[in-house]
Amino acid sequence: MSNILLGVSGSIAAYRACDVARELMRAGHTVRVVMTPAATRLISPDTFAALTGNPVVVDVFDEPEPGQIAHIRLAQDSDLLLIAPATAHTLARLALGLADDMLTTIALATRAPILIAPAMNPAMWTHPATQAHVQTLQARGVEFIDPTYGVMACGDEGWGKIADTPVIVQAVQQRLQRAQALKGVRVLITAGPTHEPIDPVRFVGNRSSGKMGYAVAEAALAHGAEVTLISGPTALTPPAGAKVVRVQTAQQMFDAVQEAFDECDVFIATAAVADYRPERALPSKRKRDAQRWTLRMVANPDILGTVALRKGSRIVVGFAAETDKALQHAQEKLQRKNLDLIAVNDVLEPGSGFEVDTNRLTLIYADGRIEPLPLMRKRACAEKLIEAVRMIVIQRWGKL
Ligand SMILES: Cc1cc2nc3c(=O)[nH]c(=O)nc-3n(C[C@H](O)[C@H](O)[C@H](O)COP(=O)(O)O)c2cc1C
Repeated sequence: MSNILLGVSGSIAAYRACDVARELMRAGHTVRVVMTPAATRLISPDTFAALTGNPVVVDVFDEPEPGQIAHIRLAQDSDLLLIAPATAHTLARLALGLADDMLTTIALATRAPILIAPAMNPAMWTHPATQAHVQTLQARGVEFIDPTYGVMACGDEGWGKIADTPVIVQAVQQRLQRAQALKGVRVLITAGPTHEPIDPVRFVGNRSSGKMGYAVAEAALAHGAEVTLISGPTALTPPAGAKVVRVQTAQQMFDAVQEAFDECDVFIATAAVADYRPERALPSKRKRDAQRWTLRMVANPDILGTVALRKGSRIVVGFAAETDKALQHAQEKLQRKNLDLIAVNDVLEPGSGFEVDTNRLTLIYADGRIEPLPLMRKRACAEKLIEAVRMIVIQRWGKL
């Protein structure tokens, strides 16, 4: 069973954390509680200590064991950090990455999945500041157990009541299961565009932002996979826990994939790799000295096509960004490149494809199955894709 760190912040619903702690222990987990100073004004740390049988931590400078730094040890020893209830103030501090008490310091130091059950007055929950913090945290892979509708302690009615205890406990169980779903599976992912130099200041590129590939890396990490992310030039921050290899050109991406491929179990090629590059990159900047300038382009190596030849028992997943006959082109690519799965999207469709935060993918499997997905945030698309990969992993290698 798992070590769960339960963060309790200063909400009127702090007493509900007692129930949550008890039910998690009943499910076989070890529970340790960390409280914010405001939470201790609403419920005594002694209550949680008595319930869980473990000391409760509040003060970041309270170091009971010499030679060990309490917040780092707790951050590293926990399989999951559940913050229930989470106040508006704690959400804001988490979103900003503040570390001004024990709970927020641990939240920064841990690599364990974080689940948050907010509780607050409806006006506070629907406030744009709070919602922006929620989005920031979600974009980092933090997951939320949504508050429910009801009458608050203050008498106001609306969204903001902490979720019911069974809902919180079920979310914890599912999150813990998911964190193990691809344990030990090595996933290699390419993301972003490539830049093919014309001269020292110009390049041929494409409009890929890398968002889809980074979301796939996040989802694979959330399922417990070991992730190597080979990234073309993007403005994105790579997800914590991924090994990142940065490249610029298609040739460099090809070389990096060739080197890492033997050490992977699953290869997911989301990068928008340039099919062609200028034949020769000029050594100095091309001046405006003519009315016409013809660039000669040559083909880049085909990353997916090449590694698919030595795929063995690996699972190889491709992406197809199409502008016409999307399904037909994707099916051809799946067969031509010997893929197990291909995710296709029509980049001309509004809200789908490059730069935006959403996508509408259709998954096509090697056995011919076609699974159209709705328009969703890229992170949600990535979850579906990783779920599909997990099913193929189980079919191929049995239960993990
Ligand atoms: C009786 C009482 C109940 C409160 N309930 C909530 C609540 O449910 N949600 C919330 O966001 N803030 C609530 N607050 C305000 C927070 O306690 C306050 O913003 C505090 O700074 C939160 O600190 P923390 O996030 O570090 O625990 C409450 C305050 C009091 C006095």
